[in-house]
Amino acid sequence: MSDLVRSERRGAVALLTMNRPKALNALNRASLQALGDAIASVACDTEVRALVLTGEGRAFVAGADIEEMSAMSALEAEAFARLGHETFAALEALRVPTIAAVGGFALGGGCELALSCDWVYASHKAVFGQPEVGLGLIPGFGGTSRLVRRVGLAWAKQLVLTGANIKADEAQRIGLVNRLFEPEELIAEALASGEVIAKQGPVAVALAKQVMQQGQDADVRTAHALERSAFGLVFATEDRVEGTSAFLEKRSPGFAGR
Ligand code: CAA
Repeated sequence: MSDLVRSERRGAVALLTMNRPKALNALNRASLQALGDAIASVACDTEVRALVLTGEGRAFVAGADIEEMSAMSALEAEAFARLGHETFAALEALRVPTIAAVGGFALGGGCELALSCDWVYASHKAVFGQPEVGLGLIPGFGGTSRLVRRVGLAWAKQLVLTGANIKADEAQRIGLVNRLFEPEELIAEALASGEVIAKQGPVAVALAKQVMQQGQDADVRTAHALERSAFGLVFATEDRVEGTSAFLEKRSPGFAGR
């Protein structure tokens, strides 16, 4: 596997680290492909219960690789955006919850990558933004849709149309970041959240995530229908029997994930 993305296991939590620090982890084709491979490995690993995604060095990811993009034709750029969309969609579709741990720059494609995780934790040093218009470009890895959904249309427009960066505290205020931590605590706190998730019923976590993800693309009646089906389905699992029995017997549950 490529060293552009470091893949580790910390207990039940997969830790993926974007690892091209000399270029502030800028996303070129090779690093997107390496990220896609790492995501596919996590998808196949039934022992993994959560994923934390971070960046090596002083950036989470400083965007798509501007040098590589500078030589692209329109058709090549469309294919590059497709690669980004497919890779980020695979991340978003993972059965397990995903947390972006942003310790530095999350700009352009880097901000879009963080938005493809279920939520974002950041250090006080983090910086977010969609600076593409300053390069004569627009966001190309899902920013125009995911940012709108995460922070609302007006804030998304302000970020995308001014290209101005915001600091971590403002990113938290507008709902882009769930929680802020001291830089040295960020990864440990993200992994700790992963361990909390690992103690819950795995089938229930996966179904709840899927229903929320699909429900936001649907009208509310369809979303409720999806929820009802999944609610019924969990009643067919051993985890549901174990979880409710453990509560009634005043003990901790031991979920088998089936
Ligand atoms: N692409 C390619 N290389 C990049 C990069 C990027 N997005 N961001 C940083 N780098 C490289 C720099 O060229 C530099 O390389 P060299 O040492 O070989 O010169 C190295 O990383 C360190 O960067 P700086 O010297 O610029 O570091 P700095 O601390 O002075 O500035 C920064 C940091 C503000 C993040 C600045 O690097 C910057 O503005 N980067 C570009 C951010 C950006 O515009 N991102 C959006 C890209 S477009 C996009 O992402 C489109 C999309 O949605 C798909």
